[in-house]
Amino acid sequence: MEFELTPEQREIQAVARELATAEIEPYASEWDRAHGFPRELLDKLAEPGLLGVCVPEEHGGAGADFISYILVLEELSRADAGVGVTVAVHTSACTLPILAFGTDAQIAEFVPPLAHGEQIGCFALTEPGAGSDAGSLVTSASEVDEGWQVSGAKQWITNAAFGGPLILFARTDPGTRTARGVSAFIVDGSQIEITRTEEKLGLNSSVTNDIAIDTVVGRDRMIGELNHGFRIAMATLDGGRIGIAAQAVGIAQAAFDVARRYALERETFGHRIADYQAIQHKLANMSMEIDAARLLVLRAAWLKDEGRPHTEAGAKAKLFASEMARRQTAEAIQVLGGYGYTKEFPVERYYRDAKITEIYEGTSEIQRLVIARSILGRQELVATPSR
Ligand code: CAA
Repeated sequence: MEFELTPEQREIQAVARELATAEIEPYASEWDRAHGFPRELLDKLAEPGLLGVCVPEEHGGAGADFISYILVLEELSRADAGVGVTVAVHTSACTLPILAFGTDAQIAEFVPPLAHGEQIGCFALTEPGAGSDAGSLVTSASEVDEGWQVSGAKQWITNAAFGGPLILFARTDPGTRTARGVSAFIVDGSQIEITRTEEKLGLNSSVTNDIAIDTVVGRDRMIGELNHGFRIAMATLDGGRIGIAAQAVGIAQAAFDVARRYALERETFGHRIADYQAIQHKLANMSMEIDAARLLVLRAAWLKDEGRPHTEAGAKAKLFASEMARRQTAEAIQVLGGYGYTKEFPVERYYRDAKITEIYEGTSEIQRLVIARSILGRQELVATPSR
């Protein structure tokens, strides 16, 4: 067993850390208040290849492995989790499914501009009435002379405002109401209408939109087989969840760093608060839980790199890392006391940002369902009511 990163992985991690420290972290509070980061930041990330880390060089990427990508997400999220999710959705929820399931022509057309950061990708699965029960989506795609007439509405679409391509899921078999009968399409950003910009508790520097679609997409825009798109959504989320777990680790690490520094400086009753066992135990628990989460994340990423099943490992990593991040960012506020509750320190932002990692790319309840199905075997469980 090998616990060392390779020289290449360490190099990419260092590039991301340096960029995050210089170009993101100093501005993160400002972007949180302004509800956005400047578009030029994405050009700065694209320059050393951070918008296509694990995309092969022949398709415009940096040609590194999935572990390297995960390390980048942790570093970016440590500086600003909103930037982290922007890159996560762009990469693992848009670029990678096109690479994995697209035709040669789709890969050639869409992947290089995404990997170069000329376009920022989106993933459009969720609808107002279909969140955890993603298979009940109602956006429809019906065959017409020119291709597919796609009509419906999608909700909480990260990155939609950037105008790049979306992997969009629509029902192609109107006779079904479950995960069967859904297909995946690549839709141009110009083919959707942004109907709302979401106001969120955290992740304010990232953009989240509701969208409407009523357009015809060409036959060549379907990814994978007709009526089997839900598998693409699930396989995409298997990898995406590892990315969100890395994001959670990055947020928790940032909170730990601030809490540790503060504990060594702040004095009460004539001593640094780090001298008190009450604070030492908090910091010890934080450090231990961050380590445990990071190891789960790296194991899941390694399995993915090895081409081995990673559904259960990814769900475990996301479940543990996200709940850990929520717990430990709250503990960081506690270490800072009243200061932690103010905007003078970034820990209140970390706490707000951490919460979403328990919700998106599958709630903690869905992760437990995925793990339970894996360890018990689906047929052993009470069947979901058939519709
Ligand atoms: N890989 C490949 N295929 C899979 C799979 C996987 N991990 N899991 C399931 N499938 C396949 C099944 O084999 C089945 O295929 P067939 O129809 O060919 O037999 C099909 O997918 C349907 O599977 P299920 O019967 O298990 O589907 P279900 O309706 O019971 O739902 C679920 C399963 C796990 C609850 C799923 O609906 C789910 O993951 N829900 C959560 C949705 C989610 O995570 N949304 C995130 C939105 S994106 C986002 O958040 C991005 C962002 O902004 C950051």
